[in-house]
Amino acid sequence: MRIVGIYGSPRAGGNTDKMLDAFLEGARQEGALVSPIYVRKLAMQGCLGCGGCDETGQCVVKDDMQNVYPLLEAAQGIVLASPVYFYNLTGQVKLLIDRSQALFMKKSLSAKAHPPSGPAASKEGKKGFLLSAAATRGKKLFDCARLTFTYFMDALGGHMVGELCLRELEGKKDVEKDLRWLSQCRAEGERFARSLTDGPVEADGAV
Ligand SMILES: Cc1cc2nc3c(=O)[nH]c(=O)nc-3n(C[C@H](O)[C@H](O)[C@H](O)COP(=O)(O)O)c2cc1C
Repeated sequence: MRIVGIYGSPRAGGNTDKMLDAFLEGARQEGALVSPIYVRKLAMQGCLGCGGCDETGQCVVKDDMQNVYPLLEAAQGIVLASPVYFYNLTGQVKLLIDRSQALFMKKSLSAKAHPPSGPAASKEGKKGFLLSAAATRGKKLFDCARLTFTYFMDALGGHMVGELCLRELEGKKDVEKDLRWLSQCRAEGERFARSLTDGPVEADGAV
């Protein structure tokens, strides 16, 4: 099974990088083929809102996002790791998500040409998992990130199946303060990879 791991922080080697490293290590252990994407290394711009993809399902902007589209399309699993920035995902991740509008349009055009046959179709598709970290501890801390990721998965024809969101992590190495956190990320990665072959997995909820 193929998993895309999206490293969403501009801070290399920080909390969410470490969380995703551990998650993907677990997934690889279960036989997953992993394609990492470091958004901080991508030269890309935001969606132009030009409507070009409405007709073709292809984005008119020719930048590094063109290398990301085939990876997102081929994956059965997508795991996104992003710190919370102003109560949402990072700006770099949001650029990638906005540009995925082309994949949403491609899916819509294909569904129009070949309508799905049967009610089971909506239960299938890609599975998504969200990893996040933030410095504070508010109840709604991850709400926006979760909502954005949920609709990103929806646009890709999939759904979010789980999350691991850690509060009170500010310094670059804070996630290492409690050894259980990265072990949990690793265990979630193993479970996620197994779910891609076994069938549905239930969400675990925020920590
Ligand atoms: C621009 C910016 C905005 C941030 N906004 C929030 C926020 O709204 N809430 C919060 O709890 N932490 C916020 N943080 C803190 C980060 O989420 C936190 O330090 C996180 O652990 C960073 O993850 P990383 O090490 O993977 O980059 C912000 C940090 C930056 C640099």
